[in-house]
Amino acid sequence: MTRLIHIADLHFGAEDPELVAGFERACAALAPELIIAAGDFTQAARWRELRAADAMFARIDRPVVGRPGNHDVPVYSPLERALRPWRRYDRTLGRIIRPDWSSDAVQVSTLHTARRAQWRPDWSLGRAARRDVDQALSCFKQAGSRARVLACHHPLIAPDPSDPRAATRNGPETAKRLSAACDLVLTGHLHETFVLPSPDTKQTCWFIGTGTTFSRRTRQESASFNLIEIEEDGFRLTRQESDEAGRFGAGRIWELERGKR
Ligand SMILES: [Fe+2]
Ligand SMILES: [Fe+2]
Repeated sequence: MTRLIHIADLHFGAEDPELVAGFERACAALAPELIIAAGDFTQAARWRELRAADAMFARIDRPVVGRPGNHDVPVYSPLERALRPWRRYDRTLGRIIRPDWSSDAVQVSTLHTARRAQWRPDWSLGRAARRDVDQALSCFKQAGSRARVLACHHPLIAPDPSDPRAATRNGPETAKRLSAACDLVLTGHLHETFVLPSPDTKQTCWFIGTGTTFSRRTRQESASFNLIEIEEDGFRLTRQESDEAGRFGAGRIWELERGKR
């Protein structure tokens, strides 16, 4: 059995220190093989926020796979945002967070969906470029019978399709493509836990969102992360929920079927 932790929307700069300490204790107790971090590590890609995230991952000392989110591009430096949007991320978190990872049981790949700018007013929304999807999926050609897990920051499908935050460009088409090539698609951005089946009913692929891990300012649900256990015939997802003291503990559990191939 392989254990993964799925986190997103850490938002260092607005983090609650009790939740950070609680997460570090939970990580030590759960001992996951890998942490999958689906972006928004910071509030505004300030150097001090990136360094705080860096220091936390150093303390946890586990392999981390992920991609930056829309908050990880400099918000208050328009020139840098335009010319070298990912320089700060690359020089800090990018040195320890890898874009892919594999073991005997699982192959993990990631897709970049955050943009420095777009031809629409809300630049926080995501875009899945076909070339990036091709590249992300190329990892799975050698996956064999291993579980195939893809992570990206923005949701490709969402519990409420009319939610304006879920308007990821090429989202529904990309979700169909991923359904044929992945077992799990892990995302962030909505600050909401959800589990949705593939929009293609012939495929068994699960689209999974996680809550924010370090913020108490979430409106609908407490700070949380997902524990994912990979077994021969399926996946067990346990939402790890925080209490008043910043301690994380097991909440709702989903048992998810794994597609035959
Ligand atoms: Fe976020
Ligand atoms: Fe986001």
